[in-house]
Amino acid sequence: MSQQFDPCITEDGSYTFFSEEFGQTFHSRYGARAESIFKYAIPTLLADRASRGHLRLLDICYGLGYNSAAALSAIWRSNPNCTVEIIALELDRTVPISAIEHHLLAEWEEPISQLLTRLVQAETIDTPKCQAQLIFGDARQTIDLVLDQSFQADAIFLDPFSPLSCPQLWTVEFIDRVARCCAADGIIATYSCAAAARTAMIQAGLLIADSLPVGRKAPGTIASFDPVQFPPLSQQELEHLQTRAAIPYRDPTLSDSMASIVNRRELEQDHCGWETTSQWKKRWRAVS
Ligand SMILES: C[S@@+](CC[C@H](N)C(=O)[O-])C[C@H]1O[C@@H](n2cnc3c(N)ncnc32)[C@H](O)[C@@H]1O
Repeated sequence: MSQQFDPCITEDGSYTFFSEEFGQTFHSRYGARAESIFKYAIPTLLADRASRGHLRLLDICYGLGYNSAAALSAIWRSNPNCTVEIIALELDRTVPISAIEHHLLAEWEEPISQLLTRLVQAETIDTPKCQAQLIFGDARQTIDLVLDQSFQADAIFLDPFSPLSCPQLWTVEFIDRVARCCAADGIIATYSCAAAARTAMIQAGLLIADSLPVGRKAPGTIASFDPVQFPPLSQQELEHLQTRAAIPYRDPTLSDSMASIVNRRELEQDHCGWETTSQWKKRWRAVS
């Protein structure tokens, strides 16, 4: 998997890549930079929490590095003295390397672009204000290295390709491990509102809520163990979690192929006896 990536422009003028392997762009077409700010940095309350003086971030699916960049920008604009620890997980090292070769990190103010460039080159940085590790490999396995360090993140960015393209990173087993890396009042953010992903989060003991929709109708999801943080889901969204779409992906050994994970879920869906998601949609269209 050593593929070169060519930048493609998004609607906010920032650049993303297209993955031939997953058949998707790395960011939404409304804006790569906007997504990292509005789906990740803002919903995880980093600007407010920077007053704590020290923050720990877990960036799952580091990609081009935009989510870490947006986080550092939000934190240091709010409190330039806040120290930050980052652990980032990524499968394909050619992605962040291509981002640097195309100068895509230059969109972020210094010292962020310099720090993240060094992180990609050395896989670790240790400066007075930022300690970071970039761990390459399948996140289903490398997440154990995060757990081994007893890393408890204040913010977790969960940014795989969509559940249909990359179900491996939306399973009950993987999300459970992600949740175990989350501090008691930490916040997990993702762009997805897929019912299967939300079920996996609930099964991990997390409370979930919508993050604001940006550039499209559907919201993202934020999750935390802390009950005071979020407004409840609407009745319509709660009922979505009782449809066939809410049957989660499972990967008991965290090593199955995409096809086995999808087949296992389809079998479970065939036997669940739950309402189909189109029936649910129809009912709610009739209400509105
Ligand atoms: C939607 S993109 C992430 C974009 C990224 N957060 C950013 O800000 O640029 C998904 C990323 O997940 C990575 N990925 C795919 N499968 C993975 C796996 N099993 N473990 C870790 N990373 C994976 C891809 O290489 C890709 O970089």
